[in-house]
Amino acid sequence: MSLQRLSKFVRCSENYNLCRYVKSQLEFSPFLRLTVNSKNFSAVQNMSSNQKVLNLDNMNPNIRIMEYAVRGPLLIRATEIENELKKGVEKPFKEVLKANIGDCHAMGQKPITFIRQVLALVSQPELLDDDRYPEDVKERARTILDGCRGGSVGSYTDSPGIEIIRKHVAQYIERRDGIPCDYLNVLLCAGASDGIKSILRLLVADVDGKKPGVLIPIPQYPLYSATLAEFNVQQVGYFLDENKNWGLDVNELERSITEARKHCNPRAIVVINPGNPTGLLLLITYYLIMI
Ligand SMILES: Cc1ncc(COP(=O)(O)O)c(C=O)c1O
Repeated sequence: MSLQRLSKFVRCSENYNLCRYVKSQLEFSPFLRLTVNSKNFSAVQNMSSNQKVLNLDNMNPNIRIMEYAVRGPLLIRATEIENELKKGVEKPFKEVLKANIGDCHAMGQKPITFIRQVLALVSQPELLDDDRYPEDVKERARTILDGCRGGSVGSYTDSPGIEIIRKHVAQYIERRDGIPCDYLNVLLCAGASDGIKSILRLLVADVDGKKPGVLIPIPQYPLYSATLAEFNVQQVGYFLDENKNWGLDVNELERSITEARKHCNPRAIVVINPGNPTGLLLLITYYLIMI
């Protein structure tokens, strides 16, 4: 098990499961044992042979308390039950419906053909000569390949992403929102989580001796509470109003921020729109009120 895979698992894992997992890895991972046994590593030389470099007591405490409920014990148990059903174990039901995430393709939604075809062509440019692909797909694939160093999507890109794609994103935002968008301000990232974490990471700094805080809606999508725990940023909940279709109540925002200011420095607010898991669509007026 590489450290990269270990840390990926750690990031997505429920506390309980994580502890079990880390414990098992510490006992069995050849890499970690190798690190402990290395004679060249002076810090390790001073440790007794039984002492582990990484254990539940000396690991990053932020990761230990982090929870990501959509991947938590309920899902783990559901997967176990699913496997039991596959093996023919008798249950009073025949299938498990997982409602922890909205997984469109897993539920049978067809992928968008254009995107899939462009991906196929940029990955295998010989297909540009294949008559089964329409001309608009080929044109897009050529544009992207021309924007990649060496004409290959396997090459390194600039840190904010492939320039031509950033330009396309900026054009899309302009068309959608009717406001100018400079592509230099567009940063591509691997999914929403990656972008959200990059932004939240910027806020991790005490100001005037106070720990940073971030307001998040309750109920929320658990990425936010998990990331705040990971970064040791104070979670400040503001409750959505069920009686108003899980809408935003400005008085509740005031209450929450006033309370939070007593023990942290609220530096940002997370607004999930459309709401997840609540589904409410917030109007622009609410943003103006918040500002
Ligand atoms: C509000 C919200 N934030 C973040 C995410 C995570 O997005 P991604 O899977 O692209 O990282 C989701 C996914 O459903 C979401 O609904």
